[in-house]
Amino acid sequence: MSSVVVGVGGGIAAYKVAGLVRLFTEAGHDVTVVPTRAALQFVGEPTWAALSGNPVSTEVWDRVHQVNHVAVGKQADLVVIAPATADLMGRAAAGLADDLLTATLLTATCPLVFAPAMHTEMWMHPATVANVDTLRQRGAVVVEPDSGRLTGSDSGPGRLPEVEAIFRIATELLAPPDLAGLKIVVTAGGTREPIDPVRFLGNRSSGKQGYALAAAAARRGADVTLISANTSLPPPPDVAVVSVETAAQLATQVHKYATDADIIAMAAAVADFRPTEVSRVKLKKDSAAEPDTIALERNPDILLELVAARSSGQVVVGFAAETGDESAEVLEYGRKKLAAKGCDVLVVNDVSGGEVFDRHDNEVIVLDRFGGQRQYPRSDKSVVADQILDAVADYRDQD
Ligand code: C5P
Repeated sequence: MSSVVVGVGGGIAAYKVAGLVRLFTEAGHDVTVVPTRAALQFVGEPTWAALSGNPVSTEVWDRVHQVNHVAVGKQADLVVIAPATADLMGRAAAGLADDLLTATLLTATCPLVFAPAMHTEMWMHPATVANVDTLRQRGAVVVEPDSGRLTGSDSGPGRLPEVEAIFRIATELLAPPDLAGLKIVVTAGGTREPIDPVRFLGNRSSGKQGYALAAAAARRGADVTLISANTSLPPPPDVAVVSVETAAQLATQVHKYATDADIIAMAAAVADFRPTEVSRVKLKKDSAAEPDTIALERNPDILLELVAARSSGQVVVGFAAETGDESAEVLEYGRKKLAAKGCDVLVVNDVSGGEVFDRHDNEVIVLDRFGGQRQYPRSDKSVVADQILDAVADYRDQD
């Protein structure tokens, strides 16, 4: 049984959330409903109390002796906000804490799921877009709203996703601590290879999938070290972050932490080449230092090195960003790469047209050395992270 907080925002879709509370209680979870003042205009306190079987508070002034504004968030294993209104997401993104729900969001270290519902204009407004982006950058899952008929005569994106869909995503993030006792090393981001003091050769990796993987592994009880190359993401809770810039630095750190790791997941986009020489001065045009060409040399393939040094029982996970015209083609490249790299598990995604980089969602196929192949639907990178960890955990059981 997990402790689930359902935060209810002030939107007409609040009535549908009664069904969501039911799904959680029927699944055996201990549910605390925290409505905003505005939410109570739509559905009253007795409904939430009766459905959850727990007392309902809106203000930080209730049960002060129990320090309720901190306790609710700290005890939660999952917080689901539905309907997440534009105002509520704005307050959450700004870090305001002017009622019990927003105070809870500031004290919770568990996964947060926002299920938005609002008119299309509000959903598409740059302020809402920026707030959603901020929440996602911090690791929250913001589910895409459904499209269809809205409260008035209008229609478009902004409908509350079906409560069954919200429940499915939320449950995915409530994984048990099945990785407790395991040491996991995750690399994330994209390496930069300096050309001169100002410029570098880099790539488009945002680090989001690697960060989501590290966050999910820590949530599932693992001891996680995240080796992070050039990202601007906040460190996930309970994860030790080591920052690096170049492929050589990444290699040094990975090898250092890999020796006693149970699982190593190479999600970082590592540069294959680096400039042979790094200029100590800025290369200026129309000067003696103006280059005609930049000579490159190969970086070591860290994944290959890890496979060669792999200890018994250690699982090495590679990532392959492939482009292909057909998904069969991407899969074929993936199989070849798995064989060429010799890793245990390979996470393949189709990056044709830059479809993955910096997005909050992803669609992957997970291949393993025993011929296993799992294809997942497009989901938030946090959900994909749990899918990858499920596949790796199953692989360990077979190994
Ligand atoms: O060969 P390719 O770059 O497509 O392989 C991707 C996988 O190999 C990723 O897991 C990446 O982290 C790893 N890699 C590496 N060292 C390199 C290049 C890629 O470990 N020099």
